[in-house]
Amino acid sequence: MTTAPLPDPDVGLPHAEPPVVLARDLVMTYGEGDATVHALRGVSLSVDRGDYVAIMGSSGSGKSTLLNIIGCLDAPTSGTYELDGVDVGDLSDNDLTDLRNDKLGFVFQGFNLLRRTSAVRQVELPLAYAGVPRRERRPRALAMLEAVGLGERIDHLPTQLSGGQQQRVAVARALVTEPALLLADEPTGNLDSRSTDDLLGLFAQLNSDGRTIIVITHEDAVAAEAKRVLVLTDGEIVEDRRQAPVDGPPPRLGAVA
Ligand SMILES: Nc1ncnc2c1ncn2[C@@H]1O[C@H](COP(=O)(O)OP(=O)(O)O)[C@@H](O)[C@H]1O
Ligand SMILES: [Mg+2]
Repeated sequence: MTTAPLPDPDVGLPHAEPPVVLARDLVMTYGEGDATVHALRGVSLSVDRGDYVAIMGSSGSGKSTLLNIIGCLDAPTSGTYELDGVDVGDLSDNDLTDLRNDKLGFVFQGFNLLRRTSAVRQVELPLAYAGVPRRERRPRALAMLEAVGLGERIDHLPTQLSGGQQQRVAVARALVTEPALLLADEPTGNLDSRSTDDLLGLFAQLNSDGRTIIVITHEDAVAAEAKRVLVLTDGEIVEDRRQAPVDGPPPRLGAVA
């Protein structure tokens, strides 16, 4: 009794918390008339805190479109989307930006680092956008770089880092604000197999520490690391396969734990 967390009085159920992602019937249509593209044809999706989801599908199947909606970078043509309990459709552009800074971390295939900026300053930037006081930024950025294994490389510029190291800086930058959700679009697309494996090890560690991760990939080896795999075909989810329970370790760490 004494160790159990208190139930949320507003909900009446112990541990009740909204899914990180709750999307209903998302439709995304680009263009008009003969040029109409149905990028999403009614996608519904719920992702709980702690899950690790891989989204697969051939080129043009709608993966990036879905990730952009989940990431509040784009609004659907129709359908509703709640991010961590907040209905995104109700928000102004300013509120959306704040929500994105607060709840989301992004990692991209091309790393998207600033070219003349040291690793530690790259990681400090989102803290500045989030309004974190200056004196707190450096220690938090350093701790995050340490956590991704780059504690020795804090002053390096992107050109002085390998691809795998650059992607680790990007992961540190994405996570330094403690977002509810890490979104990654083909994060291993520009990495060799060894760096890919390193990054997957890092993702597994982050997920077992409680981070929720959604990763787009076309590589089976990447999808094998997730707890759940969604397959998109022509704008629809055609498969939703669970590989490991949400509240356990990801596949890579399953045998160890
Ligand atoms: N901004 C856009 N304008 C017009 N068509 C788009 C746009 N973005 C994506 N599409 C089209 O929507 C479909 C899905 O694209 P996308 O989500 O990028 O697929 P994936 O990431 O799976 O390769 C494709 O047919 C693509 O050409
Ligand atoms: Mg894409």
